[in-house]
Amino acid sequence: MTEPTASDPAPAPPTGRPGPVVARTVEELDRARAALGGRRTALVPTMGALHSGHRRLIATAREHADAVVVSVFVNPLQFGPTEDFDRYPRPFEADLAVCADAGVDVVFAPGVDVMYPGPQIVTVHPGAMGQVLEGEFRPGFFEGVLTVVSKLFHLVRPDVAVFGQKDAQQLAVVRRMVRDLCLRVEIVGAATVRDPDGLATSSRNVYLSPAERRSALALSRALLAGADAAVTGAIGILSAAREVLDEAATATPPVAVDYLSLVEPTTFTEVSGDYRGDAVLVVAAWVGETRLIDNVPISL
Ligand code: PAF
Repeated sequence: MTEPTASDPAPAPPTGRPGPVVARTVEELDRARAALGGRRTALVPTMGALHSGHRRLIATAREHADAVVVSVFVNPLQFGPTEDFDRYPRPFEADLAVCADAGVDVVFAPGVDVMYPGPQIVTVHPGAMGQVLEGEFRPGFFEGVLTVVSKLFHLVRPDVAVFGQKDAQQLAVVRRMVRDLCLRVEIVGAATVRDPDGLATSSRNVYLSPAERRSALALSRALLAGADAAVTGAIGILSAAREVLDEAATATPPVAVDYLSLVEPTTFTEVSGDYRGDAVLVVAAWVGETRLIDNVPISL
């Protein structure tokens, strides 16, 4: 397992507060959920390896609810056969310490057998907006995400669920699922947290060597360059961001871009050259063996 870097939270010192109730099975979750009574409850779905971005999700959940449930589950259904499911970091004790420090009430940490007791025949399909960008480069990803998120919604029965804007397409696809399937959960987005050097926090940042991390900063620099060119319109935004990424493609180690796109925030369709309104500039790229995504909202 990859060791956490300095930018990951160290286990928090004891606060004197009782830690969260840990539920590993549906029965344990039901008991923990019943103990919350009628309190308005927020769910923060995670795959663990909690960092400062997750702390913000939890703090946002606390602002919208009286009780907070964090799920920690590395969901096999959203990983492709060549992706990093096996090496994905799983520092569960450190995650618990973060949750205790943040005043989380319940941590739901089911095993794969609990979430997938048999072969998964029925899944939630994301439609067209789940086939582009992340959906194109990671076939089956959003189907895996929506399937596990809808299971978590049914099991935890939250009033509100919090997702990071760092995964902007995921947030948009989840919002659309809630709307199209009439799910009774309010979806709240929490702003991206960046390390002081500009890198968006991600559980996968632990994979980066110091040199890869330096190259990876091109992503946030490209987004910033794009945002700074907002008054020039869609084409100007894209060419300002592309210039930074082209230079990064020749760095050591190089940045290999999967996509750079300016999209409408709810449908994730590409905007045209004369578009006016809210948009999101999204980027995905590889640095070494690590795939990173980032985005910035832009008003045109
Ligand atoms: O964003 C994530 O960590 C995952 O995609 C999620 C929402 C927890 C589903 O597994």
